[in-house]
Parts: sequence; structure tokens; C-alpha cells
Amino acid sequence: MNINENIRWLLSFYRTSEISGALFFGQLARSMKPGIIQHNMTQQFADEAQHSRYWGNCLKQLNMQPIKLERSYQDYYLKAAGLPSNLMEVLAITHVFELRVFEQYSHHRKIITQPKIVLQTLDTIIGEEVWHLKWVRKALKDMEAEYGVNEVQSTIKRFMQADKDAYLKVTDEYQDRIETMMVTA
Ligand SMILES: [Fe+2]
Ligand SMILES: [Fe+2]
Repeated sequence: MNINENIRWLLSFYRTSEISGALFFGQLARSMKPGIIQHNMTQQFADEAQHSRYWGNCLKQLNMQPIKLERSYQDYYLKAAGLPSNLMEVLAITHVFELRVFEQYSHHRKIITQPKIVLQTLDTIIGEEVWHLKWVRKALKDMEAEYGVNEVQSTIKRFMQADKDAYLKVTDEYQDRIETMMVTA
């Protein structure tokens, strides 16, 4: 596999995933009552839209055209998880989704040492994803008073299973490509 083609594919994959994330969180924000959670969710979907633009800029700086990818992990995940039915489930689905994104970017950051523009973009995005994880975790903790610890934990578990199923379905190609990068980087 050509190294440049791999980078192009991976960045296109991230770019598409961020678009799906922005759309999903945007829809959730629109369905919410005004308040701090809606406010934070709005910041989050704006961030995800920016992330997709950052990947677009990064591809441009590498003189690469984005590839149009049909499948995104997010699409499968949301299908597998089903629509959340209350605010606690919304936060749980967001939490699991954000954990996956964070792990994926952190893994890439750890094993790949070039090109520099990709690492800079990853650092910027990871910094913002940390905030996403943080506010959602706190909001979920606050929900324990209303729903009970067990209910919150079992909901997270349920969405983690959906995440695992979806991830296995779509990421064969991602794994192949990132492993190739590990060998060649
Ligand atoms: Fe993002
Ligand atoms: Fe995020």
C-alpha cells in the first residue's frame, strides 16, 4: 500500500467521521430544552464541524484531494445503538462515542511520527475532544441522582456493546491502513 494513499484515506476517514459527528450532535442539540446541556452540546457540534474542516485543510496542505467515503463508524454505531430515549441516554451515547474517537486519535498520535501537519492537526483536535469527554462525564454523573448509578452504568454498558459491534463492522480497512503506516512511518 502506497504511504501517501494511506494518509489520504485515513484523513478522509477522519474528515467524514467528524461530519457525521457534527450532524448527529447537532440533531441532539436541536431536540433539547434550553439550558447548560444544550449550550455545551452546541459547542460540541460546532467543534466537530471545525474538526472536519481542519482535516480538509490538512489534506489541502498535503496536496491531497479528500476521498468520498460512504461508510462511517458513526452511522453504524447510531444504527446499532438505536435512538436515545431520554437525556441520560443522550449523554451516555455521547460519552461512548467520544471515548471511541479519543482512543482512535490518541492511538494514531502515539504510533505515527509524520507528516508534521497531521500531528499538529491531531494535537489541536485531541485538545478539544478532551473537553467533550469532560463535560459529558460530569453531566452524566449529575444524572445519577435522578436515574440511579446502576441505570446510568447499565446504559453506558449497552451503548459500549453497540459501539464494539459497529466498530468491528467498519474498521477493517482502518486497521489495515494504520498498521501499514506503523511499519512505514
Ligand atoms: Fe471531533
Ligand atoms: Fe468530540
